[in-house]
Amino acid sequence: MALADSMPLLAIDHAQGPWLFDVDGKRYFDAISSWWVNLFGHSEPRISAAISEQLARLPHILLAGCTHSPAVELAERLSLRTQGVLGHCFFASDGASAVEIALKMSAHAWRNQGQTGKTEFVCLHGGYHGETLGALSVTDIAVFKDAYDPLLLRPHLVMSPDARQAGAGETSEQVAQRALVKLEQLLGLRADRIAALILEPLVQAAGGMAMYHPAYLRGARALCTQFDVHLIADEIAVGCGRTGSFFAWEQSLGDKQASAEWPDFICLSKGITGGFLPLSLVLSKEDVFQAFWSRETAKGFLHSHSYSGNPLACSAALAVLDHFDDRDVLGNNAQQAAILSGHLQPLFLDERLEHPRQMGSIWAFDVRPEYAAPDMGARLRSRALEHGLMIRPIGRTVYLMPPYVLTPELSAWVARELSAAVDEALPASPAYAHRAPSAATA
Ligand SMILES: Cc1ncc(COP(=O)(O)O)c(C=O)c1O
Repeated sequence: MALADSMPLLAIDHAQGPWLFDVDGKRYFDAISSWWVNLFGHSEPRISAAISEQLARLPHILLAGCTHSPAVELAERLSLRTQGVLGHCFFASDGASAVEIALKMSAHAWRNQGQTGKTEFVCLHGGYHGETLGALSVTDIAVFKDAYDPLLLRPHLVMSPDARQAGAGETSEQVAQRALVKLEQLLGLRADRIAALILEPLVQAAGGMAMYHPAYLRGARALCTQFDVHLIADEIAVGCGRTGSFFAWEQSLGDKQASAEWPDFICLSKGITGGFLPLSLVLSKEDVFQAFWSRETAKGFLHSHSYSGNPLACSAALAVLDHFDDRDVLGNNAQQAAILSGHLQPLFLDERLEHPRQMGSIWAFDVRPEYAAPDMGARLRSRALEHGLMIRPIGRTVYLMPPYVLTPELSAWVARELSAAVDEALPASPAYAHRAPSAATA
């Protein structure tokens, strides 16, 4: 709140499609899908109708000792999207809780199988998995973590496959291989104590849209199998088509899509309800399910939230899956992405920027350090708002993650306004950047 003078809160009154309207009637393009949750635009009619219908029937019932058809249908339809390999679904209501569930379920499954020493976790440098204590423990972003450090678990941090680390002549695949060597070294030493590796497939989002080669996923899967360690794919940000496939993980699969190529757990949230209601879930494989199959309560997996698997949220998620089933959402996204990428090319050539990158419906670039004054994020955000774009830079990284409603005209407009905002917010020369007044970044 201390920053509100210089960066007033945006008071949003209503929203339609990709547009947010503030209380004064000014409209902004939601270039970040309301923190990556909104897939088909705000107030999307099909999802709204599904929620209204469910509202008249059953707004909520506990998911303990009771069940309801939207949850059952959602679990079945998601499982089918993994060819039935991850055939079990545990519900919660937000992303961090899904991560807590996957971590607990992994360690508890090992315990039930007599491996009580497997209680440690491995995570990647620059990863983000949420901000409850367990999820924060496997997050590696200092600004969120430092104040709570004494309260946290002590995971093993391994090299990220972030392609920006490529040396001269090195490919993104070679960076991935380098990172796999580090993972292999750790597992070779410590696998008997390690329950699971957790990672964000293909894009480490909150860490600065760090993109990487799918070879890392294939290699990590093989190592986890070799060393008897679970693999948790946190698809909370990258799932539901964001990277170009429904699950980002699919881009690592071979032609046969064998069960062994899939992760042991997939966490989903954010886009699964199209950005309408909070919902999360953890998909898991049969052997994990079997580890809990017992009449003894202590062997069961106990993790409850009051609104886990809320029927309204599940009905919104079913409407989201209907969109994917009825129309070629991914093919259309790919076409529109190529058009927006084309329009962004001149901006990507700006010498003040580096590491332009794109995957699916995510575009990002970094401002070179010498042009990134401490208040760069705030300046850029406010210039973008003047141009009718809502963005939220992460440190030096500027990104677009719009809803899947782009048109060629809209893409041309977004690229033009973003370029203008960047031009106005960044200094023409690095010398000026360092004279800019200092303030916290967004
Ligand atoms: C990869 C990833 N995991 C977990 C979370 C936490 O989700 P939530 O904010 O719903 O707790 C996020 C949120 O940004 C995320 O990006």
